[in-house]
Amino acid sequence: MEGGWPSGGSFLLCLTVNLLLPGRSNTFTINCSGFDQHGVDPAVFQTIFNQKDFRPVINYSIPTQVNISFTLSAILDVDAQLQLLTSFLWLKMIWTNPFISWDPEKCGAISKLTVTTENLWLPDIFIVESMDVDQTPEGLSAYVTNDGHIVYNKPMRVTSICSLDIFYFPFDQQNCTLTFSSFLYTVENMLLGMEKEVWEIADTSRDIIRTQGEWELLGINKATPKMSVGSSLFDQIMFYVAIRRRPSLYIINLLVPSSFLISIDALSFYLPAESENRAPFKITLLLGYNVFLLMMNKLLPASGTPLISVYFALCLSLMVVSLLETIFITYLLHMATTQPPPMPPWLYSLLFLCTSPGKCCPVALWNENTGPGLMSTHLPGLKEPGQLVGKELGSREAELNGGSGLTSTQLADLWVQFSHMMDTFLFRLYLIFLASSIITVIVLWNT
Ligand SMILES: *[C@@H]1O[C@H](CO)[C@@H](O)[C@H](O)[C@H]1NC(C)=O
Ligand SMILES: *[C@@H]1O[C@H](CO)[C@@H](O)[C@H](O)[C@H]1NC(C)=O
Ligand SMILES: *[C@@H]1O[C@H](CO)[C@@H](O)[C@H](O)[C@H]1NC(C)=O
Ligand SMILES: *[C@@H]1O[C@H](CO)[C@@H](O)[C@H](O)[C@H]1NC(C)=O
Repeated sequence: MEGGWPSGGSFLLCLTVNLLLPGRSNTFTINCSGFDQHGVDPAVFQTIFNQKDFRPVINYSIPTQVNISFTLSAILDVDAQLQLLTSFLWLKMIWTNPFISWDPEKCGAISKLTVTTENLWLPDIFIVESMDVDQTPEGLSAYVTNDGHIVYNKPMRVTSICSLDIFYFPFDQQNCTLTFSSFLYTVENMLLGMEKEVWEIADTSRDIIRTQGEWELLGINKATPKMSVGSSLFDQIMFYVAIRRRPSLYIINLLVPSSFLISIDALSFYLPAESENRAPFKITLLLGYNVFLLMMNKLLPASGTPLISVYFALCLSLMVVSLLETIFITYLLHMATTQPPPMPPWLYSLLFLCTSPGKCCPVALWNENTGPGLMSTHLPGLKEPGQLVGKELGSREAELNGGSGLTSTQLADLWVQFSHMMDTFLFRLYLIFLASSIITVIVLWNT
């Protein structure tokens, strides 16, 4: 098609044929002389502009090869509720118009010109996942080279549907697909190719994305399956865009405060069970945690159940459980100091077993040396158990209890001992459960 300019006598004839029957000949060379002196002569392009409604091919059995590439310049929004990814990209398309060619040597080495796209045939490449109308700005231009290549760059704001999995939030990665395909042309009429290698696309995009926003581009992959709709086959190129969330915001605002609160809750077991402070302290913590959850709720994804919500629910339940435990221990202690019920023999032996030197179960945190036989539990903030019991039980003080040969003072002390033991035991259970659930969550996050 880029055959040399016909010379000699046949020149006039050829020119006439060219003018009369455009498209019938392979000689579509544009007369570019004078472009460097008086600018481009619109008249010489008029034939091409007039053809813009038709696919520019000489033989209609030959498909137009459109090579595409893009540069992802920003990841604007990832909407987990609507499952949408909003990104901004520059799409580059290159195809050949066989009717355009000129000899740059005849016009001062002009090898490419810009032409407004309204005057050119444009391939109807669209993104299959796009959920928004194409908002391409008007009045864009394309480069036309002297060998007929047309290079068209267009900016696109793409709102594409993407299956987002927020289970691992805030340590999640998403894999969104952008499928470029022709709206109308089947494989017989249009073929898609790559203008650049996919790793080049990924590298340039990574360099271009200057935003230090929430999302980071991990990589881009591609696949080229054909899409069949009914009996027609469409060419398409699928790009898999892998992005990762930067979790620091969520670590600082969600995970760290939550861990602090839960560790304070764990540490509050070291407040003596007899002091009146433990339960109010835990209630305050619980309240604080609720306020924290309310305030930070907007940082969580609006839909789905991420692991972090499970973690928050777990922390909240642990706080509630620890409050219940405190209530239980307070009740036990109160019972011990007012009306100690007879102690079942198995409990007594258990208690004895636990406080004997080769102990197998937990003893109280703050009076480890006190065995059931010593009875010296004089605790701060608590009335002498024997006094209370003594007043209430009165004459029965000397009575023997449960056949175990205990006075009620001793019995009360035993119950106090038992409460402390229970407290320590439940605290250890709590710690084990806390540790195992946190380890589970961390392991899940790391997979
Ligand atoms: C090209 O156009 C110039 C005037 O613009 C004319 O002088 C010249 O003869 C033309 N060349 C050919 C090969 O038609
Ligand atoms: C058009 O292209 C087809 C397939 O390449 C070929 O069979 C046919 O001969 C071509 N027609 C002309 C007029 O060159
Ligand atoms: C498109 O790419 C193919 C190879 O991938 C190449 O042969 C062809 O010339 C390219 N077409 C254009 C218009 O750049
Ligand atoms: C994204 O998903 C596609 C298939 O759905 C897969 O081929 C590709 O490897 C995935 N990319 C990443 C980075 O996980």
